[in-house]
Amino acid sequence: MGDTSNVEAFFDKVITVKMLPDHTAVNIIDQTLLPETIKRINLTTKEEMWDAIKKLRVRGAPAIGVTAAYCIALLASEIEASDFDSFYKEFKADKDYLASSRPTAVNLFWALNRMDQKALFEKDKPLDQIKEDLFVEADKIREEDVQISRNIGEIGYRILKDLKKDGQPVGIMTHCNAGTLATAKYGTATAPMYIALEHGWAGTDMHVYCDETRPLLQGARLTSFELHNAGITTTLQCDNMASILMKSGKIQVVFVGCDRVAKNGDAANKIGTSGVAILAHYYGIPFYVCAPSSTIDMATPTGDQIPIEMRDKDEVTEMWYKERMAPEGIDVFNPAFDVTDHSLITGIITEKGMCHAPYDKAFEKLGIVAK
Ligand code: MRU
Repeated sequence: MGDTSNVEAFFDKVITVKMLPDHTAVNIIDQTLLPETIKRINLTTKEEMWDAIKKLRVRGAPAIGVTAAYCIALLASEIEASDFDSFYKEFKADKDYLASSRPTAVNLFWALNRMDQKALFEKDKPLDQIKEDLFVEADKIREEDVQISRNIGEIGYRILKDLKKDGQPVGIMTHCNAGTLATAKYGTATAPMYIALEHGWAGTDMHVYCDETRPLLQGARLTSFELHNAGITTTLQCDNMASILMKSGKIQVVFVGCDRVAKNGDAANKIGTSGVAILAHYYGIPFYVCAPSSTIDMATPTGDQIPIEMRDKDEVTEMWYKERMAPEGIDVFNPAFDVTDHSLITGIITEKGMCHAPYDKAFEKLGIVAK
C-alpha cells in the first residue's frame, strides 16, 4: 500500500463542511477564495447559508447536500415551538428556503428531504430529542458520503489499472471539480486517482489534465489545486484545448462528476461537460460519469426535464478581470450546467456498482429507485 499521509493531511486541511462541536454554526471552507487563501467561515443565519450555496462558497453536488443537512439541523435546533406541528411548520419553511438556493444538483433536495423524513418519523418524540437526532442524521449523511466516494474510487481504480501500460502514465481528463472540495472526502471523479495512490501508484503513474472550466474556474482553482497538492502529475488547460489534447493520444479515459442523472442516464454536470463527452466519443476515449446514487433522480425521466441554473452575466464579462472584457450592456448566455446524452457515456459509476446502458434497468437492478 502507498503512503498517502500527505494526501490525508491535505484532506484535513480543506474539509469542505463540518458542524462546530457545540452546534452553534456550520463551518465551511470558503471555496471562492481558493487556491490562494484557505479561510473557513461560520454560517449561522439562514440567509448566510442560502448565500453560501448560491455564491458557490460551498459547491459540488454531494457537498451541497451535506451542507444543506447541517444547515437544516442547525436551523431546526433554534426553532422555539411547544408542539410538533408548529415546529414542523417552521422547519418546512426553512427547508423550502434553503432548497431555493440552487436548482440543478438534486443532492440539495435529496438531503433536505431525508432530514424532513427523519423529523416526521420522530414526530412523537420530545422536540429536544428530534432536534438532537437531526444533528446525528446530518453526521450520518456526511459519513456515508465518505464511503460512497471510496466505493466509486475502487471501481474507477480498476479501470485505471486496466489502462496502465508499463512505463507510461495513464492520461486522464476531468472537467470542473468533482474532488474532495465537492464532497466529504475523496471526491467522485478524483476518487479513482486517490485510491490508485493508496494502491501504491506514484503521482507520476497518472497524468491528469484539468479543464479550466469557464466561467467559474473550478478546474483551475480547485481541481488542479487538489491534485497538485496530492503529488499527482497535473496539467491545466483551457476548455477549448481538450480536442487537440485528445487527438494527440495522451488521454486514455475521462472521469467527470454530475449534479443530476435522469432515469435514462442523461447526466447534468458543469457547463462544458457535454462538449468533452462529444469529443471523447469522436476520438474513441471512454467517458465515465461518477455518480453517488443520491445524484440519480429516478423521478426525472430524461435530461430534458432537468432544470438548468442560469447565472449572472458578470461571471463571464468581468468577474476574473482587472477591467471588463466585454462591452457594457452586452447580452450573455451563462448556463451553469449542460446535459450529456446517455449515448455518449461509457458507464455510470455508482457506489453500488458500474452501470451500463440501458441505464434505467441498470439503476433498478442496483436498487436505485425514485425517492
Ligand atoms: O457549480 P458547481 O461548482 O457546484 O458545479 C459542480 C459540478 O458540476 C460537479 O462536477 C458536480 O457537482 C459533481 S461534484 C462530485
